Amino acid sequence: MDNRIFYKKAAKYWSSIPSTIDGVLGGFGFITDIDIKGSKQFLNELFTCETPPAQNRALDCGAGIGRVSKNLLFPYFNKVDLVEQDEKFITTAKQLIGDDCKLGTLYQIGLQLFKPPLKYDLIWCQWVLGHLNDSDLISFLERCKEALNENGMIVIKENTTTTNDIEYDDVDSSMTRPYNLMLKIFDEANLKLIKTDVQTGFPDDIYPVHMFALKAKPD
Ligand SMILES: C[S@@+](CC[C@H](N)C(=O)[O-])C[C@H]1O[C@@H](n2cnc3c(N)ncnc32)[C@H](O)[C@@H]1O
Repeated sequence: MDNRIFYKKAAKYWSSIPSTIDGVLGGFGFITDIDIKGSKQFLNELFTCETPPAQNRALDCGAGIGRVSKNLLFPYFNKVDLVEQDEKFITTAKQLIGDDCKLGTLYQIGLQLFKPPLKYDLIWCQWVLGHLNDSDLISFLERCKEALNENGMIVIKENTTTTNDIEYDDVDSSMTRPYNLMLKIFDEANLKLIKTDVQTGFPDDIYPVHMFALKAKPD
């Protein structure tokens, strides 16, 4: 599919979705608590590794209404910035987060165009990278890698297919990638896999959700 159509269609889809937890989770709002719990467990394990990330500044990519920022990242970091392309979600994120001094900058832009202007200890990308094509995803991850502080990490939490094939969703204009393709993309972006885990406790009829912690490969 033509790239412009691929991105435009996704933006149009999300502009039609209500600014609610159920909206950003595609009708699966009821899994939010178990999702956050699984993410916390994963993060806690990263903080106990030999060279853990600092806890100063984090970036939430494809942040939606700030669900991950508010419930997961705020308790761990002094400042959290958000990137989200949908204007209405950004407005709701501001309202839901309120005047918490941990809220940093909200960038309204597609990740395919975004270059982090600051350095981060953690860059969290959840349920959004299927909206980037492979080459834009590799470039985006390379830009994120350049934006990591010492011991900084990128965490990716995404659906994966149970086959070796990419599965396209024509409704929201996204793709679900097989696990091995994710690994190949990380390698091409010069990222080293530190840890990976599968989210437990989700309904059986949805895609398996993998978490990946990545660091820059040594030069
Ligand atoms: C499934 S929701 C997940 C939101 C959030 N990460 C969460 O877990 O609650 C996908 C989000 O990605 C955003 N999005 C879609 N394509 C994007 C792109 N190219 N760049 C940035 N955000 C995008 C949508 O607007 C939507 O907020």
